[in-house]
Amino acid sequence: MLYSEKVMDHFKNPRNVGVIENADGIGEVGNAKCGDIMRIYLKIDNEIISDVKFETFGCGSAIASSSMATEMIKGKPLKDALELTNKAVAEALDGLPAHKMHCSVLAEEAIKNAILDYYKKNGIPYDHSQFPDCDSCQHCN
Ligand code: FES
Repeated sequence: MLYSEKVMDHFKNPRNVGVIENADGIGEVGNAKCGDIMRIYLKIDNEIISDVKFETFGCGSAIASSSMATEMIKGKPLKDALELTNKAVAEALDGLPAHKMHCSVLAEEAIKNAILDYYKKNGIPYDHSQFPDCDSCQHCN
């Protein structure tokens, strides 16, 4: 079977789909090649992600990755969310086919962008090395 049961489950019943009005941070990334877009909304209280929602216009692996990634960061401190890698998301899904790994990268980057948005909006100093420049990122190209 190409996709694990967990991937199919999160694809068919994605968790945390939607929009947060007045979100504290919003991150959007797109993959130029496949045209898929992912948007993450964060509600942040005392550096803790109290709520997270996503909208993904993309393939099943991208939807499953967003669903799993949001589950993994919900209720967690920002610093933990910043450490979430696309590999950890793919592992939590019991793996993705090699040619679908880039879909999980969208989730990692959308979360980072949402946190960066929160830092910028609130004038909070941040470590630039934690935020790779998505424009020059090679994963999606
Ligand atoms: Fe575009 Fe999966 S094929 S994110």
